[in-house]
Amino acid sequence: MEQDNKRGQWGSNIGFLMAAVGSAVGLGNIWGFPYKMGANGGFAFLVIYLLMVAFVGIATMLGELALGRKYGMGVVGTYKLISKKYTWIGWLGFLSGFFILGFYSVLGGYTLRYTLGFLMEIFSAGAGFGGMGSGEFFGSFIINSGGNLLYHGIFMGLTVLIVMGGISGGIEKFTKVAMPALFAMLIIVIIRSVTLEGAFVGLEFMFKPNWNAFSEIGFMKVLKTAAGQMFFSLSLGMGCMITYGSYLSKSENLEKNALIIPIADTIFALCAGLAVMPAVGAFMHQGVEGISFGAGPGLLFVTLHQVFSVGMGGLIGNLFGVLFYFLVFIAAVTSAISLLEVCTAYFIDKRVEKGLDPNRKKITIFTGLAIFAMGALVCLDGLGSGVAGGAAIDPPGLMFGMENIRTAFASWLDFYDMISEGVFMPLGALLMALIIGWSLKTTVIKDEVESSPNVLMKSYKFWDICYKFIVPVGMFFVLMGQLDDFFGLGIF
Ligand code: PFF
Repeated sequence: MEQDNKRGQWGSNIGFLMAAVGSAVGLGNIWGFPYKMGANGGFAFLVIYLLMVAFVGIATMLGELALGRKYGMGVVGTYKLISKKYTWIGWLGFLSGFFILGFYSVLGGYTLRYTLGFLMEIFSAGAGFGGMGSGEFFGSFIINSGGNLLYHGIFMGLTVLIVMGGISGGIEKFTKVAMPALFAMLIIVIIRSVTLEGAFVGLEFMFKPNWNAFSEIGFMKVLKTAAGQMFFSLSLGMGCMITYGSYLSKSENLEKNALIIPIADTIFALCAGLAVMPAVGAFMHQGVEGISFGAGPGLLFVTLHQVFSVGMGGLIGNLFGVLFYFLVFIAAVTSAISLLEVCTAYFIDKRVEKGLDPNRKKITIFTGLAIFAMGALVCLDGLGSGVAGGAAIDPPGLMFGMENIRTAFASWLDFYDMISEGVFMPLGALLMALIIGWSLKTTVIKDEVESSPNVLMKSYKFWDICYKFIVPVGMFFVLMGQLDDFFGLGIF
C-alpha cells in the first residue's frame, strides 16, 4: 500500500534518524545501561550485549521499519493489514505505548524537577532542594503527590505539544536540534567526569572484564539482563519503529538505517556510562558519604544528586547538576514523543482511512490526557512507598528490573512496567519474528528493502536465519527472563 501523505512524512533521512535514535536513547541508556554493565561483568557484559544487538536487535529493527514502510500504517493498522487475525498483536503495541508513557512521563517529570532544583541552587543555596540531603529530598519528593503531578503534567504537556506539530513539523524539528545538543552536553559531562580524581574506580567498575561474572552471577542471568536491556533500549517490540518506519519515503535505504540506529544507541549508552560511573567512582574513592554504585532510582536521583551537590559541590556542582539532569530530561522527551506517536497514529490512521481530515491536534491532546490520567496513579502511590501511611522512605529500588527481587505489584509503576516491558513487548517482538520468518516469509523484508531505487539487500541470508530462528529464541528468552524478574520466580 502506498503511503498516504495526509499521515505525514519525514522531511529527510537524517531527520528520521534523529527521531529514531532519539526514541532509542532515553532513561534506559543513561540510567539502566551503566549500572547493569558494571554489575554484570563489565566488558564481559558488553560483549554479550553487542552480540544481542547484532543477532536480535538489528533484525528486529529492520523488520519493524520494513513492515511499517510497506503497509504505511501505525502498529495496529499494520498488523491488521497483514492479516485480520493478527490485529490483536498491534493492540499489544498500542497498549505498551500507553503503559510505558504512563510511568515514563512521571520519571521524566522528576528529571525536570531536579534540573530546576539545581538551577535554583545556583541563585540561592537551599532554594532548589529545601536544604535537604539527597536521600531525604528524594524520599520527600516521591511522596509529594501534588509536586509529582505538576511535573508529570508539564512533561506530558511538552510531549503533546511536540507531537501535535506532526511528523516533520513537530517530532523531526525537535529531535534534529535536541539530539546534537544532547550529545554535546553528554561530552561536556564526560570530560568533567573522567578527569575527576579517582575516576579510574568508576571506569574499572564499568569496563574491567570480569569473566567470572558468568559463573558468579550465572551466565543465563547475565544473558537475560543484556537481552532485556537491549530490547527496551532500542524501543523494539511495541511497534514504535513500525510507526516511525511508516513515515519513511521509499527512497531511503532501510538496511542501512536499521544498522545506524542500534550503533548510535549503543554509543550513547557507553557515553552515558562514561558520564555517570567515573563521577560516582571518583567520589566514592574520595570517601564522600552516601556515594556508591547503587542500583535503581537511587543511582539517578540520590547518588548522582549527591555527586553534584556534595562531591563536586558549590557553583560548579550546581552547574553540572543543571546540565546533567537537563540532558536526561531531553533524552526522556525524545523517547516519550515516540511512545505517544504510537498511540496517536492509531486514531489518525482510522480517520485517514475513512477519508477524513487527520485532526492530529485534537487526537494528540485527547491521547495525552488519557495517558496523563494513567500516570497520575503512579504519582499518587509514591513508587509503592506507602504514601497513605506516610512511611519514612528509603528509595524503594524497584525500577527497570534492577533489583534482584521485585514483585510486579509493588507499585503502579511496577505494574505498568511489568505489563508492557515484561510481557507485551517481548511477546510482540517474538510474534513479529515468527510472522516474518514463517507466515509472510522473509522475502517480504527483502522486497521492501529492495523497493528503494538502486538498493539491493546485502545480507539476506543472515536476516533469514535471524527471523526464523535466532530472534524467536532470543525473544522467548527475554520473555521468560522478564517474567522471572517481575514475579521473582527464580528460574534463572
Ligand atoms: N528506548 C527508550 C529508553 O531506552 O529509555 C524507552 C522506549 C522508548 C521504549 C520508546 C519503547 C519505545 F517505544
